[in-house]
Amino acid sequence: MNTKVWVVDKSVNKSHIYPQVKEAAEVLKQNELVAFPTETVYGLGANSTSDEAVKKIYEAKGRPSDNPLIIHISDIAEVEKFVTHIPETAKKLMETFWPGPLTIVLTKKSGVLSKVATANLSTVAIRMPEHPIALALIEASGLPIAAPSANISGKPSPTKFSHVEHDLTGKIAGIINGGDTGVGVESTVIDCTSEIPTILRPGGISKEAIEAIIGAVDVDQAVKQAVINPKSPGMKYKHYAPSATMYLVNGSKNYIQHLISQYQSEGKKVGVLTTEENASFYHADIINVCGKRSDLSTVAQRLYDTLRLFDQQHVDIILSEVFPPQGIGSAIMNRLMKAANHQIMTEK
Ligand code: TXA
Ligand code: MG
Repeated sequence: MNTKVWVVDKSVNKSHIYPQVKEAAEVLKQNELVAFPTETVYGLGANSTSDEAVKKIYEAKGRPSDNPLIIHISDIAEVEKFVTHIPETAKKLMETFWPGPLTIVLTKKSGVLSKVATANLSTVAIRMPEHPIALALIEASGLPIAAPSANISGKPSPTKFSHVEHDLTGKIAGIINGGDTGVGVESTVIDCTSEIPTILRPGGISKEAIEAIIGAVDVDQAVKQAVINPKSPGMKYKHYAPSATMYLVNGSKNYIQHLISQYQSEGKKVGVLTTEENASFYHADIINVCGKRSDLSTVAQRLYDTLRLFDQQHVDIILSEVFPPQGIGSAIMNRLMKAANHQIMTEK
């Protein structure tokens, strides 16, 4: 398949981007796939009311069919078309954080969306993104757009056009190249179907920010366990994983350097994931700087590109520093833990 690319400058006025976006929207209306930038990561969009269109997402990504998709809308008022009821907590969250990196799970109205998109569940995850190109595309299509991250399943999510191009060229109808995304990690997913909402995935909106609006929330057991029980077996799917074996290292820079030297003495090519503050300390084969420790939002922005970089550099082992799991740090640690398949080394 020939993959068409539309180059769109997100900083220009909406009327200027409209011709390309409109063309991309027509492709969506024909039940074909279009990748587009959002403020978190690039999404792989399809008409979420069509089984035929949505099936193409699962095929192109190699995504397991029991993993449901997020439905993207361009107007809060549309939510009621897709759900049976909007609880007060969800209303407050939408008013505060939409458009933005928050996905809300609600009880689904049946017969509107493709069952393939929602993996046959009784609930649906909905988000209104903040990115001007994403909003313009959804609006121009006139459709609710199902969109997972636009990467091959298991690989780090795409934060640059080149990531999408690498993973999906030849497999989808088109890509809107709108430059780098902003937040760098995906939206926070919160289930509002229970009295006390539950965070299912930490992301662009922190637990602390959510609790400031609706009071205490729960965090799903699977998210907690990833921290409490690092080597939990039966991790269902591989996620965000670079090709090399990756370890998180909970310890001093000296300890990390000790591990680097040890692996090197075994003939391994060692890469380090570090930050601006610490980079000059290490002697390793590859040193990748992933933002500044003093501003964790820069680490989130750089995270997936840094993980992808290690693949191009053909390292055997990746040793990664760890980050405080508060605010956006909680999303960073969640993704790093998955990328490392929960392998963590702690200094004694
Ligand atoms: O930032 C984002 O959320 C990006 C951009 C493109 O919007 N999208 C994204 O989609 O990350 P994806 O498919 O990579 O992740 C969607 C997550 C998955 O963990 C999925 O299991 C969960 O949302 N999800 C979707 N529908 C759900 C539902 N009804 N109940 C619980 N979880 C759901
Ligand atoms: Mg994804």
